[in-house]
Amino acid sequence: MRQIRYKLAFASFSIITFLLVGCSSKIMKSPISYSKENTLETKVDSVMKLMTLEEKVGQLNQYNGFWEITGPTPKEGQAAKKYEDLKKGLVGSMLNVKGVKDVRALQKIAVEQTRLGIPLIFGFDVIHGYKTISPIPLAEAASWDLEAIKKSAEIAAEEASSVGLNWTFAPMIDISRDARWGRVMEGAGEDTYLGSKIAVARIQGFQGDLKSNKNILACAKHFAGYAFAEAGRDYNTVDVSESTLQNTIFPPFKAAVDAGVKTFMNSFNELNGIPATGNSYLQRQVLKGDWKFDGFVVSDWGSINEMIPHGYAKDSKQAAEIALNAGSDMDMESSAYVDHLVALVKEGKVKESLIDDAAKRILKVKFELGLFDDPYRYCDETREKETIGSPAIQEGVLDMARKSIVLLKNENELLPLKKSGQKIALIGALANDKTSPLGSWRIAADDNTAVSVLEGLQAYKGNQLSFAKGADVAVGRTQFIWETKINMTDKTGFEEAIAVAKNADVVIMVLGEHGLQSGEGRSRADIGLPGVQQELLEEIYKVNSNIVLVLNNGRPLAIPWAAKNIPAIVEAWQLGTQSGNAIAQVLYGDYNPSGKLPMTFPRNIGQVPLYYNAKSTGRPIMNEPDSVFWTHYIDEKNTPLYPFGFGLSYAKFEYSDLKLSSNTFAKDGKIEVSINVKNSGKVAGKEVVQLYIRDLIGSITRPVKELKGFEMIELKPNETKKVVFSIDEKTIQYFTANSRWEAEAGDFKVFIGGNSEKTMEADFQFIN
Ligand code: NOJ
Repeated sequence: MRQIRYKLAFASFSIITFLLVGCSSKIMKSPISYSKENTLETKVDSVMKLMTLEEKVGQLNQYNGFWEITGPTPKEGQAAKKYEDLKKGLVGSMLNVKGVKDVRALQKIAVEQTRLGIPLIFGFDVIHGYKTISPIPLAEAASWDLEAIKKSAEIAAEEASSVGLNWTFAPMIDISRDARWGRVMEGAGEDTYLGSKIAVARIQGFQGDLKSNKNILACAKHFAGYAFAEAGRDYNTVDVSESTLQNTIFPPFKAAVDAGVKTFMNSFNELNGIPATGNSYLQRQVLKGDWKFDGFVVSDWGSINEMIPHGYAKDSKQAAEIALNAGSDMDMESSAYVDHLVALVKEGKVKESLIDDAAKRILKVKFELGLFDDPYRYCDETREKETIGSPAIQEGVLDMARKSIVLLKNENELLPLKKSGQKIALIGALANDKTSPLGSWRIAADDNTAVSVLEGLQAYKGNQLSFAKGADVAVGRTQFIWETKINMTDKTGFEEAIAVAKNADVVIMVLGEHGLQSGEGRSRADIGLPGVQQELLEEIYKVNSNIVLVLNNGRPLAIPWAAKNIPAIVEAWQLGTQSGNAIAQVLYGDYNPSGKLPMTFPRNIGQVPLYYNAKSTGRPIMNEPDSVFWTHYIDEKNTPLYPFGFGLSYAKFEYSDLKLSSNTFAKDGKIEVSINVKNSGKVAGKEVVQLYIRDLIGSITRPVKELKGFEMIELKPNETKKVVFSIDEKTIQYFTANSRWEAEAGDFKVFIGGNSEKTMEADFQFIN
């Protein structure tokens, strides 16, 4: 049936072409085979020609999965309306439908019961894995390992595509500087350069070249500014300068377009007074105009209608008009397009050509996915069964988890642990939590499927291991955030934990955030250890200070007491399904940690937003002791607890011999900067060598440091490697007061080191 429809589509298109241009083209001979001579545009046009305005608008409509698909069909309410829309060809895509059986059932309706049979795209938040969960993206970013990050996205795509999905709403590439914002867990942290590289790696991993049905569409989100919500409160107002927008927020999105990302998602927030969803500067001028993005833009969930409470549209109809005119192509769950766009065209408020443009963008992506050739390309039950949680996928997420761990402190080489003869006390509810490590984006993952730290450590049999929970992090039902109550009072488990700790050689405490304390809608006004955990830590410390603190968290935490007193601290984020195995392997030294923080850890919530590439200000340093009038706090230091780029290893790295091939370079020229890195430790290890610059004088003031390159090297004990970076005009370009990307002549500094604070430095000049 479907085949026939497309035959008709191509036949009629070909006949028209024949009549118009009078040629006996190859299209005429094999209309259905989409021969190479058929460009994507001609294919799309051939379908467009058959569509009514209503059907074109239908392509712009995305609905959430709205009924038990394999059960009875809905008879009333919204679900019945949506079902009718689906059969009328008024739905272009669905989200949150999962499993081959359900996807196939819905696709069958679209293909067999609608007039034209145009297949649906199936979207889902595969943020860090589908059922098998990899580390949260912030953790993955801590690996600084672009190949591993790409591989992790590839694995997620493989699993998700096996259940019928062909579109993920990832990666989130919002640069985020505010640890209060719960969604920092979903991004790559605070740095634009690192964030852009990771954006590209993740897009390549998800999408590949889309030739294989193991790849899925990626979605660069949220365009734009979402992470700059005032006070770190999710969905809050965003008001940023053009320089911040261009130099900090935009680059990862531009990199995403250049990497061929097929879809973009706009954003809930307003940007400088205009909601991103209705913002034509963002979507039409910058994205589709300047950057020539030729995929499509989906709104965020209901964000078209959210322009009403924003105070930007008076009703859903006006919101549809504004959003479409501003360049939002697909409406996620507002029903605004499907309800109003046809009327808006008839009233002359929306040009039909803009509807055509949006529909064409969506159809083009459907062709690129191969859905017109085989709408069931992603629907294979056998593959689904074989793929979900396969050994290769488990191995992949374990590898990523190990690489994401950051060693923050290791006094007296407390780590790695000795493998035998030790009494180890394991304390903290998170140590025995098989769900929290999956984080809050675990829509398809089952509860209790992560390997806990307790289980990970039990695999090491040489030591005597005792576990005491000490205190719950959360109490009551903890399945949903709105039901999750942080334990602020119950300390009844302290006594047992203290007794276990007293008797141990080493205490491992797994503390931090419950898995639902970060993510969308989970901003925190206090970023210390939640509940009674700080007190538990201090009580244990009184009886045994030989503590290894393993942190589980979805954001930087302010833990000054721990940083001062606890001898060893391991940042283990939320590491996904293989969490406990990865942590145990690092604690026992079977894997030497190499992660580096992608986001600054503050001492105190009052310092936030705190980020390494800040501006100098007019009063950067205290000139006299006790001086008051400089940029500082009277009750806290300016410096972070742990800076961006920081992370230790069981190896030791020494930097020496920073050399520049020249101290000046001109247009089209370059400077080579080299440094020697030696492993003076006893074990082999990996180090991320980081290159920063400072542009001393700019037409717009420049940050005190900016990451411009990094390289991961592996060194055996006593081995030295020379690392060479190159600096050219592109390295020093930024969006200047002339409103363009350019390099300004002047003096610069270059810094190289193992983190953003401890570096060697030299000077150079760019002559224009
Ligand atoms: C809202 C979130 O902001 C977005 O990132 C997500 O992809 C959509 N919901 C769909 O679940």
